[in-house]
Amino acid sequence: MEGETKRKLEVLRELRSRAVLGGGQKRIDQQHERGKRTARERLGLLLDEGSFQEFGALATHGLTDFGLDRQRFPGDGVVTGFGKINGRRVAVFSQDFTVMGGSFSEVQSQKIARIQDRALEAGIPLIGLGDSGGARIQEGVRSLAAYGEIFVRNVLASGVIPQISVILGPCAGGAVYSPALTDFIVMAGKGYMFLTGPEVIKAVTGEDVSVEDLGGAEVHTGRSGVAHLDAESEEEGLALVKALLSYLPQNNSEEPPQIVSEDPVERMDEDLNSLIPDGDNTPYDIRDAIGAIFDRDSFLEVQENYAANAVIGFARMDGYSVGIVANQPCYMSGALNIDASDKIARHIRLCDAFNVPIVTFIDCPGFLPGTGQEYGGVIRHGAKIIYAYCEATVPKISIVTRKAMGGAYVAMSSRQMRSDLTFAWPTGQIAVMGAEGAVRILYRDEIKKAADPLAREQEILAEYREHFFNPYRAADVGQIDEVIEPRESRPRVARALEILRTKVQQNPAKKHGLSPV
Ligand code: HXC
Repeated sequence: MEGETKRKLEVLRELRSRAVLGGGQKRIDQQHERGKRTARERLGLLLDEGSFQEFGALATHGLTDFGLDRQRFPGDGVVTGFGKINGRRVAVFSQDFTVMGGSFSEVQSQKIARIQDRALEAGIPLIGLGDSGGARIQEGVRSLAAYGEIFVRNVLASGVIPQISVILGPCAGGAVYSPALTDFIVMAGKGYMFLTGPEVIKAVTGEDVSVEDLGGAEVHTGRSGVAHLDAESEEEGLALVKALLSYLPQNNSEEPPQIVSEDPVERMDEDLNSLIPDGDNTPYDIRDAIGAIFDRDSFLEVQENYAANAVIGFARMDGYSVGIVANQPCYMSGALNIDASDKIARHIRLCDAFNVPIVTFIDCPGFLPGTGQEYGGVIRHGAKIIYAYCEATVPKISIVTRKAMGGAYVAMSSRQMRSDLTFAWPTGQIAVMGAEGAVRILYRDEIKKAADPLAREQEILAEYREHFFNPYRAADVGQIDEVIEPRESRPRVARALEILRTKVQQNPAKKHGLSPV
């Protein structure tokens, strides 16, 4: 009996040691030669030491089509389980490229779906590390159906638990859509994403494009806006996941964690008083304001290179997590366009879903004019910002630093759209439109008829500026709650956030609204 038990233990140990090797030592060596870590090495970097508990290590397929019986590996190309990041529980899966290129199979799907279900029920974040050639071709419809199992769980978990995808190798075909349904996509190391590969593109369109130019990090964090953060190395990419999680709650019924802040709330930054340049159109970097107002070094910018005319991200105030939305005057004068609208609207909804208060900085001349924008549907896209701000029930504070013109004033978290507290700096300009345009429309005849039209125009321009290029008209009518010195922003925002911490607001019951898409 003793011998029998011992043999059984040996069988388990043998199976486990095979499972750890994934597709085998030769494939692991190839993975390293490609400059990539293995699925398990990545989990080792992501999770607190010794915290990983694996489930499904021995699962494998029972198929024989197309020689699959010779390609049977314990784990079947994905490592799944639970662990901790900075002491907080997470569910994880990590695709194993050493097993048939990490191709997505029925068994992979069953394993991932199991941990998705557990993560949703337990209310803990889900992190997926992707390195996959897409649907396992030999499995046919089984692997297609398998994707559906993951997608439906991604969608049902959306807004309940944070979901983060990290792209560390190919993410091809159907493999792109689970990440696209999650809250964040981080691209790192050799990661790339495409729906249809270079060979198919060549055959269909004749275009010759490299994998990198088609779906590298530069493309997806810059042009397409598909990804949110990127890093040179796998370590840095995984560190970004930990940083992101530190701003988010475990689920939508909890608050984000508060950390102890060393930065005094009453600190005032004198430099802020001279941040806004004298010229109306002289650029400055709104990130200087963000950096000076929130807890030192706490700002994590998201989608930095996509629609740089808007800035979004997370910061902390007195150790509490805050979502940041801002126009960026040093890029396209901070005008709102299609891409910036998408970027801002999505971030508002994400913060709202996860109980992160939103602070909005406004310096925007309005929506970008032009046929390109109108034909591209700037009306539909711009409406997303309005929808998102109106719908959001988290605390919302706004600060007009300079221009709040026309549509931008209304859209960017205005009072009527349920902004809780609105501040303006003395440099604020709140008007329906810029001075030149307004004067041309309102005083066309008068200027034409004047003895010296140029001089008259200058006179009226000065009057218009005097009247509207300050925040006091808006404060008079209660559109701005308080005009503050820029240097006072940190203590004022901190106290406002403190007041609003227990805010309760509810929207009418409905199945769901129709946010413009
Ligand atoms: C089965 C696959 C595979 C796949 C890769 N492999 N992708 N096996 N199904 N989808 C295998 C390769 O045959 C190879 O096995 C091993 O994985 C490593 O792949 P390589 O090609 O050597 O790696 P690399 O040069 O890095 O190229 C990676 C790649 C390429 C760009 C991902 O493998 C590729 O183009 N794969 C197919 C991608 C694709 O079109 N997938 C879409 C499927 S359709 P051996 O044994 O030869 O080393 C789909 C639709 C779902 O996903 C839609 C749902 C909405």
